[in-house]
Amino acid sequence: MPARSLLDLDDFTSDELTYLLNRADAFDRRPPSRNLLAGITVVNLFFEASTRTFVSFAIAESRVGADVVALPPGSSSLGKGETIADTAITLAAMGVRVIVTRHPESGFPYRLAETFEGHVINAGDGRHAHPTQALLDLLTLKAEFGRIEGLRVALVGDILHSRVARSNVIGLKLLGADVVLVGPPTLLPDAMACDGVTIERDLDAILPTLDALVLLRIQRERIAAAVLPSLEDYARNYRLDARRAGRLKRGAIVMHPGPYNRGIELTQDVFAFEGWRYAQQVSHGVPVRMAVLDFLVNGREK
Ligand code: NCD
Repeated sequence: MPARSLLDLDDFTSDELTYLLNRADAFDRRPPSRNLLAGITVVNLFFEASTRTFVSFAIAESRVGADVVALPPGSSSLGKGETIADTAITLAAMGVRVIVTRHPESGFPYRLAETFEGHVINAGDGRHAHPTQALLDLLTLKAEFGRIEGLRVALVGDILHSRVARSNVIGLKLLGADVVLVGPPTLLPDAMACDGVTIERDLDAILPTLDALVLLRIQRERIAAAVLPSLEDYARNYRLDARRAGRLKRGAIVMHPGPYNRGIELTQDVFAFEGWRYAQQVSHGVPVRMAVLDFLVNGREK
């Protein structure tokens, strides 16, 4: 049987997702008592800038006792013309069992997984998917509300170019949340509506109906200038400030995957809002990634 990979959240059933979130929650409360990945070599192959995700994986890998090698951007032989397939063969020949990869090209981890005889974990590919970010967002919701099912969650902003949004939609739907996408037509075309997902243009109108709001960074590096809306218009309609946050229902939370741009997706006064959960999200990244590594390599806990 080929090794299982995590390329996007649809690689898991809802039952497996629930298992992973419970396992991550247990790791968050109490670190595992033994090195679950002792003797397993993991390579972190990042081709795009990353602070949170890179460090979070590195910490998670060391907490489960893996042997870790990080290959900084620009230093792999892919830049010398080696193909992905050859890189996969090379790393497998050295006994590497897990590759964690981030790449600006959508689909890169899928191509890697086709030839690598080990587990591939997608740490973000282009505008396509970012499954461990979605998992840590789900864990943050579960920690807050004790459930995901029935929650009304809005993702706001640059949905079109957001791998975080795409993976979150899959996870939220699998676990029975009511998903709302909010943004201007240039960043959120009508065609993105699908079963279980509604599109709203008017953020102010829906604020009081939400349990959680996930703000997204405008992905300027992935957007053609022609479709980028004016930032003034964007801020007027979609930027979260304390006034808008105050219109959320009592107990609602606000999340952002980071990095956030002060003045564009949010204003600084949101940091003082009692429902601001950015730090919890970042902190949940470590146990979530520990749970994923353990699940892929060792399977379910016996
Ligand atoms: C995101 C990413 O890189 O996909 N950040 C993250 O991993 N926490 C979001 C972004 O870049 O806007």
